[in-house]
Amino acid sequence: MTEPAAGFPEQVTIYEVGPRDGLQNEQAVVPVEVKAEFVRRLVSAGLQTVELTSFVPQKWVPQLGDAEELLDLLGPLAAGQQRPVLVPNERGLDRALDKGVRAVAVFGSATETFARKNLNRSVAESLEMFAPVVKRALDAGAWVRGYVSMCFGDPWEGPVPVSQVVEVCSRLMDLGCDQLSIGDTIGVGTTGHVSRLLEALDAAGIGVDQIGVHFHDTYGQALANTVAALSHGVSVVDASTGGLGGCPYAKSATGNLATEDLIWTLDGLGIEHGADLDALVETSVWMAGQLGRPSPSRVVKALAGA
Ligand code: HMG
Ligand code: MG
Repeated sequence: MTEPAAGFPEQVTIYEVGPRDGLQNEQAVVPVEVKAEFVRRLVSAGLQTVELTSFVPQKWVPQLGDAEELLDLLGPLAAGQQRPVLVPNERGLDRALDKGVRAVAVFGSATETFARKNLNRSVAESLEMFAPVVKRALDAGAWVRGYVSMCFGDPWEGPVPVSQVVEVCSRLMDLGCDQLSIGDTIGVGTTGHVSRLLEALDAAGIGVDQIGVHFHDTYGQALANTVAALSHGVSVVDASTGGLGGCPYAKSATGNLATEDLIWTLDGLGIEHGADLDALVETSVWMAGQLGRPSPSRVVKALAGA
């Protein structure tokens, strides 16, 4: 049943990360034909923004070592679609631009330990690495997202001060990013903390129209945190069909907010999103068959009887 509530956006963009965040963390490498079929199903279910893969060295993320092949299999975009990819450095950007990609994401960290583990650099050195990537991407007419990981807590450093997160976010916006994605990589955040961070970002001149939220569901808080962000006016929400996801360089990172769980809440609030819930549930059931284990999404379980 739809019961709209005051103070929420009328429309939300679902930023689907299943093919990238979901599949980067699988134990086995998923065949590229299966990845392409996954993306086709997501797009035909109405998801306009689908993050496809990462242009990183194969030895860092073997699961996504087929980035070029995947893009070749998928072919050109239809009008209105956006298919971003992750690029950590200029080498990654060159590979992406060569394949005709025009939406990229750099990915920074709010903490030093995760920057070292995920990017082999300090926070400052990673921002130096991103500067020419963002500039050259913008010069090439690309849209650029800046992820910030460990915005709430870090498995090695513990709770992360809001001011530290705001500092990294500000630096990424100064580089020229079009949008930030605020990452709770290990899923420890809670609703009050989300509000506090969004208020601090706003006070630093980064408004909700420049922000997407990216919640992992380790402690079952992803949906509550998303609703908190929506109530502040955030209208871009990262989610992963079937709740796949995690980060190979962050212990205790589990799946992302499931796209189906997000849609159930959006539908309940009467918020437009353009996606077909039944088609996504069917896709998650199909993907679970490919991966050999059921989807962790509660909505998939309820609707598919899985
Ligand atoms: P490095 O080892 O310091 O890199 O890694 P390097 O510049 O010294 O290069 C090492 C070798 O890799 C060289 O080759 C380079 O040419 C090659 P060699 O000379 O040894 O033959 N190389 C490349 N090859 C292909 N594509 C490239 C590339 N770059 C260098 N782009 C690096 C530094 C940044 C590359 C590495 O640390 C890296 O790739 N890290 C990425 C790890 C990753 O993908 N993590 C998961 C994504 S982040 C995430 O999941 C969080 C998120 O979801 C948000 C959240 O939840 O918080 C986004
Ligand atoms: Mg993530």
